[in-house]
Amino acid sequence: MTQEVLRQPAEAAIFLVLDVRPGSEATARDLLADIAGLTRAVGFRAPEDELSCVVGIGASLWSRLYRSSAPRELHPFRSLSGARHSAPATHGDLLFHLRARRLDLCFELARHVMTRLAGHVKVLDEVQGFRYFDERDLLGFVDGTENPTGPKAVAAITVGDEDPAYAGGSYVVVQKYLHDLDAWQALPVAEQERVIGRSKLDDIEMTDAVKPANSHVAANTIVDPDGTERQIVRENMAFGSPGAAEFGTYFIGYAATPDVIERMLLRMFIGAPPGNYDRILDFSTAVTGSLFFVPTAEFLEDPSPATATNSPDGSLGIGSLKRSRT
Ligand code: HEM
Repeated sequence: MTQEVLRQPAEAAIFLVLDVRPGSEATARDLLADIAGLTRAVGFRAPEDELSCVVGIGASLWSRLYRSSAPRELHPFRSLSGARHSAPATHGDLLFHLRARRLDLCFELARHVMTRLAGHVKVLDEVQGFRYFDERDLLGFVDGTENPTGPKAVAAITVGDEDPAYAGGSYVVVQKYLHDLDAWQALPVAEQERVIGRSKLDDIEMTDAVKPANSHVAANTIVDPDGTERQIVRENMAFGSPGAAEFGTYFIGYAATPDVIERMLLRMFIGAPPGNYDRILDFSTAVTGSLFFVPTAEFLEDPSPATATNSPDGSLGIGSLKRSRT
Protein backbone atom coordinates (compact mmCIF):
# COMPACT_ATOMS: atom_id res chain seq x y z
CA MET A 1 0.00 0.00 0.00
CA THR A 2 1.31 3.44 -0.89
CA GLN A 3 1.51 6.01 1.84
CA GLU A 4 -1.39 8.46 1.70
CA VAL A 5 -0.07 10.59 -1.15
CA LEU A 6 -3.44 11.00 -2.85
CA ARG A 7 -6.21 12.71 -0.91
CA GLN A 8 -8.54 15.68 -1.10
CA PRO A 9 -6.66 18.98 -1.03
CA ALA A 10 -5.91 19.88 2.57
CA GLU A 11 -6.69 23.11 4.40
CA ALA A 12 -3.45 22.98 6.40
CA ALA A 13 -0.02 21.40 6.09
CA ILE A 14 3.35 21.22 7.77
CA PHE A 15 6.48 20.48 5.73
CA LEU A 16 9.42 19.34 7.84
CA VAL A 17 12.85 18.67 6.31
CA LEU A 18 15.39 17.08 8.66
CA ASP A 19 18.91 15.71 8.69
CA VAL A 20 19.61 12.64 10.83
CA ARG A 21 22.69 12.93 13.02
CA PRO A 22 25.40 10.25 12.63
CA GLY A 23 24.67 7.41 15.08
CA SER A 24 20.93 8.19 15.18
CA GLU A 25 19.94 5.88 12.34
CA ALA A 26 18.20 3.30 14.54
CA THR A 27 16.13 6.01 16.23
CA ALA A 28 15.08 7.42 12.87
CA ARG A 29 14.23 3.94 11.54
CA ASP A 30 12.15 3.16 14.65
CA LEU A 31 10.22 6.40 14.25
CA LEU A 32 9.53 5.67 10.57
CA ALA A 33 8.24 2.23 11.55
CA ASP A 34 5.87 3.85 14.03
CA ILE A 35 4.75 6.84 11.96
CA ALA A 36 1.53 5.21 10.73
CA GLY A 37 0.59 4.35 14.32
CA LEU A 38 1.36 7.87 15.55
CA THR A 39 -0.72 9.34 12.71
CA ARG A 40 -3.61 7.02 13.60
CA ALA A 41 -3.35 7.98 17.29
CA VAL A 42 -3.51 11.73 16.61
CA GLY A 43 -5.97 11.51 13.72
CA PHE A 44 -8.46 9.22 15.47
CA ARG A 45 -9.36 12.01 17.86
CA ALA A 46 -10.80 14.00 14.91
CA PRO A 47 -11.34 11.58 12.02
CA GLU A 48 -13.48 14.06 10.07
CA ASP A 49 -10.42 16.30 9.76
CA GLU A 50 -8.42 13.76 7.77
CA LEU A 51 -4.91 13.91 9.19
CA SER A 52 -2.35 12.26 6.94
CA CYS A 53 1.42 11.97 6.88
CA VAL A 54 3.77 11.08 4.04
CA VAL A 55 7.44 10.39 4.74
CA GLY A 56 10.18 10.75 2.14
CA ILE A 57 13.78 9.50 2.49
CA GLY A 58 16.69 11.32 0.84
CA ALA A 59 19.47 9.66 -1.16
CA SER A 60 22.21 10.23 1.40
CA LEU A 61 20.20 8.66 4.23
CA TRP A 62 19.04 5.55 2.40
CA SER A 63 22.20 3.43 2.75
CA ARG A 64 22.55 4.54 6.37
CA LEU A 65 19.09 3.14 7.18
CA TYR A 66 18.68 0.09 4.97
CA ARG A 67 20.93 -2.63 3.55
CA SER A 68 18.92 -3.06 0.39
CA SER A 69 20.15 -1.07 -2.58
CA ALA A 70 18.43 2.27 -2.97
CA PRO A 71 15.39 2.79 -5.18
CA ARG A 72 16.59 2.97 -8.79
CA GLU A 73 16.04 6.66 -9.40
CA LEU A 74 16.82 8.06 -5.96
CA HIS A 75 19.49 10.76 -6.17
CA PRO A 76 20.10 14.18 -4.65
CA PHE A 77 18.12 17.07 -6.13
CA ARG A 78 20.01 18.49 -9.13
CA SER A 79 20.44 22.24 -9.03
CA LEU A 80 19.77 24.24 -12.18
CA SER A 81 21.21 27.51 -13.35
CA GLY A 82 19.49 29.29 -16.21
CA ALA A 83 20.28 32.61 -17.90
CA ARG A 84 18.21 34.54 -15.33
CA HIS A 85 17.06 32.16 -12.58
CA SER A 86 18.46 29.31 -10.50
CA ALA A 87 17.02 26.35 -8.63
CA PRO A 88 19.32 25.60 -5.68
CA ALA A 89 19.76 22.11 -4.27
CA THR A 90 19.50 21.94 -0.49
CA HIS A 91 20.14 18.99 1.79
CA GLY A 92 17.46 16.84 3.38
CA ASP A 93 17.55 13.31 4.83
CA LEU A 94 13.86 13.13 5.71
CA LEU A 95 10.70 14.91 4.58
CA PHE A 96 7.49 14.82 6.60
CA HIS A 97 4.46 16.07 4.67
CA LEU A 98 1.64 16.43 7.18
CA ARG A 99 -1.83 17.43 5.99
CA ALA A 100 -5.25 17.88 7.56
CA ARG A 101 -8.32 20.07 7.51
CA ARG A 102 -7.02 21.89 10.59
CA LEU A 103 -3.52 22.96 11.49
CA ASP A 104 -3.70 21.76 15.10
CA LEU A 105 -3.71 18.11 13.97
CA CYS A 106 -0.58 18.62 11.86
CA PHE A 107 0.99 20.52 14.72
CA GLU A 108 0.23 17.77 17.23
CA LEU A 109 1.68 15.05 15.00
CA ALA A 110 4.78 17.15 14.23
CA ARG A 111 5.23 17.64 17.98
CA HIS A 112 5.19 13.87 18.60
CA VAL A 113 7.60 13.28 15.72
CA MET A 114 10.02 15.87 17.05
CA THR A 115 9.75 14.52 20.61
CA ARG A 116 10.77 11.08 19.34
CA LEU A 117 13.64 12.53 17.32
CA ALA A 118 14.86 15.08 19.87
CA GLY A 119 18.66 15.25 19.87
CA HIS A 120 18.85 12.94 16.85
CA VAL A 121 18.05 15.31 14.00
CA LYS A 122 18.81 18.78 12.74
CA VAL A 123 15.79 20.71 11.46
CA LEU A 124 16.71 22.21 8.09
CA ASP A 125 13.32 23.69 7.25
CA GLU A 126 9.83 23.83 8.71
CA VAL A 127 6.96 25.49 6.87
CA GLN A 128 3.34 25.76 7.97
CA GLY A 129 1.13 26.05 4.91
CA PHE A 130 -2.49 27.12 4.66
CA ARG A 131 -5.28 27.01 2.14
CA TYR A 132 -5.83 30.50 0.73
CA PHE A 133 -9.47 31.02 -0.26
CA ASP A 134 -10.53 28.72 -3.14
CA GLU A 135 -7.19 26.87 -3.47
CA ARG A 136 -5.30 29.99 -4.54
CA ASP A 137 -1.59 30.65 -4.25
CA LEU A 138 -0.43 34.01 -2.94
CA LEU A 139 -0.18 35.24 -6.54
CA GLY A 140 -3.98 34.98 -6.45
CA PHE A 141 -4.38 32.12 -8.96
CA VAL A 142 -6.17 28.83 -8.33
CA ASP A 143 -3.42 26.22 -7.95
CA GLY A 144 -3.89 22.49 -8.49
CA THR A 145 -6.67 22.48 -11.08
CA GLU A 146 -4.95 20.27 -13.63
CA ASN A 147 -3.85 17.63 -11.14
CA PRO A 148 -4.76 14.18 -12.44
CA THR A 149 -7.44 12.33 -10.47
CA GLY A 150 -8.56 8.70 -10.01
CA PRO A 151 -6.59 6.02 -11.89
CA LYS A 152 -4.57 8.66 -13.77
CA ALA A 153 -3.32 10.08 -10.48
CA VAL A 154 -2.40 6.59 -9.24
CA ALA A 155 -0.49 5.91 -12.47
CA ALA A 156 1.26 9.30 -12.31
CA ILE A 157 2.71 8.72 -8.84
CA THR A 158 3.21 4.97 -8.46
CA VAL A 159 6.47 3.13 -9.15
CA GLY A 160 5.69 -0.08 -11.04
CA ASP A 161 7.52 -3.11 -12.42
CA GLU A 162 10.47 -1.01 -13.57
CA ASP A 163 11.73 -1.23 -9.96
CA PRO A 164 10.01 -4.31 -8.46
CA ALA A 165 11.63 -4.04 -5.02
CA TYR A 166 10.06 -0.61 -4.59
CA ALA A 167 6.84 -0.99 -6.57
CA GLY A 168 4.05 1.00 -4.93
CA GLY A 169 6.41 3.77 -3.84
CA SER A 170 6.73 7.26 -5.24
CA TYR A 171 9.21 10.12 -5.65
CA VAL A 172 8.67 13.60 -4.28
CA VAL A 173 10.35 16.96 -4.95
CA VAL A 174 9.92 20.00 -2.72
CA GLN A 175 10.95 23.59 -3.37
CA LYS A 176 10.25 26.62 -1.28
CA TYR A 177 9.50 29.74 -3.36
CA LEU A 178 9.37 33.34 -2.17
CA HIS A 179 7.29 35.83 -4.16
CA ASP A 180 8.00 39.47 -4.94
CA LEU A 181 4.39 40.47 -4.35
CA ASP A 182 4.98 44.19 -4.91
CA ALA A 183 6.31 43.55 -8.41
CA TRP A 184 3.53 41.02 -9.07
CA GLN A 185 0.77 43.32 -7.96
CA ALA A 186 2.16 46.13 -10.11
CA LEU A 187 1.45 43.91 -13.12
CA PRO A 188 -2.03 44.35 -14.69
CA VAL A 189 -4.24 41.29 -14.21
CA ALA A 190 -4.31 40.61 -17.97
CA GLU A 191 -0.51 40.39 -17.90
CA GLN A 192 -0.52 38.17 -14.79
CA GLU A 193 -2.82 35.83 -16.69
CA ARG A 194 -0.29 35.66 -19.53
CA VAL A 195 2.38 34.69 -16.97
CA ILE A 196 0.32 31.79 -15.65
CA GLY A 197 -1.57 30.81 -18.82
CA ARG A 198 -5.01 30.82 -17.15
CA SER A 199 -7.61 33.45 -16.24
CA LYS A 200 -7.34 34.74 -12.69
CA LEU A 201 -10.93 35.03 -11.49
CA ASP A 202 -12.52 31.96 -13.04
CA ASP A 203 -9.37 29.83 -13.62
CA ILE A 204 -9.91 28.93 -17.28
CA GLU A 205 -6.90 27.82 -19.34
CA MET A 206 -5.98 29.97 -22.34
CA THR A 207 -6.27 28.33 -25.73
CA ASP A 208 -2.99 27.30 -27.33
CA ALA A 209 -3.41 30.11 -29.85
CA VAL A 210 -3.12 32.80 -27.17
CA LYS A 211 -1.17 31.09 -24.35
CA PRO A 212 2.41 32.49 -24.29
CA ALA A 213 5.20 29.92 -24.73
CA ASN A 214 6.87 31.24 -21.56
CA SER A 215 3.74 30.93 -19.42
CA HIS A 216 3.85 28.62 -16.40
CA VAL A 217 1.27 26.24 -17.84
CA ALA A 218 3.08 25.98 -21.19
CA ALA A 219 6.41 25.31 -19.43
CA ASN A 220 4.88 22.52 -17.40
CA THR A 221 3.03 20.72 -20.15
CA ILE A 222 5.24 17.71 -20.89
CA VAL A 223 4.29 15.59 -23.87
CA ASP A 224 6.26 12.49 -24.93
CA PRO A 225 7.07 11.97 -28.63
CA ASP A 226 4.17 9.47 -28.84
CA GLY A 227 1.75 12.20 -27.71
CA THR A 228 1.32 10.97 -24.11
CA GLU A 229 1.10 13.80 -21.59
CA ARG A 230 3.27 13.14 -18.49
CA GLN A 231 1.65 14.31 -15.28
CA ILE A 232 2.58 14.77 -11.64
CA VAL A 233 0.48 15.29 -8.52
CA ARG A 234 1.06 18.63 -6.75
CA GLU A 235 -0.18 19.87 -3.44
CA ASN A 236 1.35 23.30 -3.13
CA MET A 237 0.54 25.39 -0.10
CA ALA A 238 0.61 29.10 0.60
CA PHE A 239 2.75 30.24 3.50
CA GLY A 240 4.14 33.49 4.77
CA SER A 241 4.42 36.16 7.35
CA PRO A 242 2.84 39.55 6.52
CA GLY A 243 4.76 41.17 9.38
CA ALA A 244 8.05 40.08 7.84
CA ALA A 245 6.82 40.75 4.28
CA GLU A 246 7.39 37.08 3.42
CA PHE A 247 5.00 35.57 0.89
CA GLY A 248 5.59 32.10 -0.48
CA THR A 249 4.45 28.97 -2.23
CA TYR A 250 5.71 25.63 -0.95
CA PHE A 251 5.88 23.48 -4.09
CA ILE A 252 5.48 19.73 -3.60
CA GLY A 253 5.23 17.35 -6.53
CA TYR A 254 4.86 13.56 -6.48
CA ALA A 255 5.68 11.31 -9.44
CA ALA A 256 6.44 7.71 -10.38
CA THR A 257 9.81 8.91 -11.66
CA PRO A 258 11.74 12.07 -10.78
CA ASP A 259 12.49 12.41 -14.47
CA VAL A 260 9.11 14.02 -15.21
CA ILE A 261 9.54 16.66 -12.50
CA GLU A 262 13.13 17.26 -13.62
CA ARG A 263 11.96 17.82 -17.19
CA MET A 264 9.46 20.39 -15.92
CA LEU A 265 12.15 22.15 -13.90
CA LEU A 266 14.46 22.20 -16.90
CA ARG A 267 11.76 23.86 -18.98
CA MET A 268 11.00 26.32 -16.18
CA PHE A 269 14.56 27.39 -15.35
CA ILE A 270 16.53 26.84 -18.58
CA GLY A 271 13.65 26.97 -21.05
CA ALA A 272 12.88 25.05 -24.22
CA PRO A 273 14.48 26.41 -26.30
CA PRO A 274 17.02 27.75 -23.79
CA GLY A 275 16.15 31.30 -22.79
CA ASN A 276 12.39 30.68 -22.99
CA TYR A 277 12.21 30.33 -19.20
CA ASP A 278 8.99 30.31 -17.16
CA ARG A 279 7.96 33.91 -16.49
CA ILE A 280 6.59 32.95 -13.05
CA LEU A 281 10.27 32.95 -11.98
CA ASP A 282 10.55 36.72 -12.54
CA PHE A 283 8.28 36.99 -9.48
CA SER A 284 9.15 33.82 -7.54
CA THR A 285 12.57 32.75 -6.24
CA ALA A 286 13.35 29.14 -5.34
CA VAL A 287 15.28 29.05 -2.06
CA THR A 288 15.32 25.28 -1.40
CA GLY A 289 15.18 22.09 -3.48
CA SER A 290 15.26 18.45 -2.36
CA LEU A 291 14.29 15.05 -3.69
CA PHE A 292 13.07 12.04 -1.67
CA PHE A 293 11.75 8.52 -2.17
CA VAL A 294 8.41 7.65 -0.58
CA PRO A 295 8.42 3.92 0.24
CA THR A 296 5.23 1.97 0.81
CA ALA A 297 3.68 2.04 4.29
CA GLU A 298 4.58 -1.66 4.68
CA PHE A 299 8.22 -1.03 3.95
CA LEU A 300 8.44 1.72 6.55
CA GLU A 301 6.68 -0.36 9.16
CA ASP A 302 8.61 -3.52 8.52
CA PRO A 303 11.74 -3.38 6.40
CA SER A 304 12.64 -7.07 6.43
CA PRO A 305 15.56 -8.16 8.63
CA ALA A 306 17.63 -8.41 5.50
CA THR A 307 17.08 -4.77 4.73
CA ALA A 308 17.49 -3.13 8.11
CA THR A 309 21.13 -2.24 8.71
CA ASN A 310 22.75 -2.66 12.07
CA SER A 311 22.97 0.58 13.93
CA PRO A 312 26.45 1.82 14.84
CA ASP A 313 25.97 0.62 18.44
CA GLY A 314 25.49 -2.92 17.15
CA SER A 315 21.78 -3.26 17.96
CA LEU A 316 19.51 -4.66 15.30
CA GLY A 317 17.24 -2.46 13.25
CA ILE A 318 13.54 -2.32 13.95
CA GLY A 319 12.71 -4.59 11.02
CA SER A 320 13.83 -7.64 12.92
CA LEU A 321 11.91 -6.71 16.04
CA LYS A 322 8.55 -5.61 14.82
CA ARG A 323 5.77 -7.52 13.13
CA SER A 324 3.99 -5.90 10.27
CA ARG A 325 0.30 -5.03 10.69
CA THR A 326 -1.81 -6.30 7.82
C1 HEM B 1 6.12 29.53 -7.39
C2 HEM B 1 5.78 28.27 -7.44
C3 HEM B 1 4.58 27.81 -8.20
C4 HEM B 1 3.34 28.37 -8.27
C5 HEM B 1 2.83 29.63 -7.58
C6 HEM B 1 2.56 27.55 -9.17
C7 HEM B 1 1.26 27.81 -9.53
C8 HEM B 1 0.55 27.13 -10.51
C9 HEM B 1 -0.75 27.49 -11.01
C10 HEM B 1 -1.57 28.69 -10.55
C11 HEM B 1 -1.09 26.60 -11.97
C12 HEM B 1 -2.38 26.56 -12.83
C13 HEM B 1 -3.48 25.74 -12.24
C14 HEM B 1 -3.17 24.29 -12.08
O1 HEM B 1 -3.37 23.48 -12.98
O2 HEM B 1 -2.70 23.94 -11.00
C15 HEM B 1 -0.02 25.64 -12.07
C16 HEM B 1 0.01 24.57 -12.91
C17 HEM B 1 1.02 23.63 -12.96
N1 HEM B 1 2.22 23.70 -12.29
FE1 HEM B 1 2.81 25.14 -10.99
N2 HEM B 1 3.34 26.50 -9.60
C18 HEM B 1 4.59 26.63 -9.05
C19 HEM B 1 5.67 25.80 -9.24
C20 HEM B 1 5.67 24.68 -10.02
C21 HEM B 1 6.77 23.78 -10.19
C22 HEM B 1 8.15 23.95 -9.55
C23 HEM B 1 6.34 22.77 -11.01
C24 HEM B 1 7.07 21.55 -11.55
C25 HEM B 1 8.29 21.19 -11.23
C26 HEM B 1 4.96 23.04 -11.35
C27 HEM B 1 4.18 22.24 -12.14
C28 HEM B 1 2.92 22.56 -12.59
C29 HEM B 1 2.13 21.73 -13.48
C30 HEM B 1 2.53 20.35 -14.01
C31 HEM B 1 0.95 22.41 -13.73
C32 HEM B 1 -0.21 21.94 -14.61
C33 HEM B 1 0.07 22.31 -16.06
C34 HEM B 1 -1.12 21.87 -16.94
O3 HEM B 1 -1.11 20.71 -17.33
O4 HEM B 1 -2.00 22.69 -17.19
N3 HEM B 1 4.58 24.20 -10.74
N4 HEM B 1 0.98 25.98 -11.17
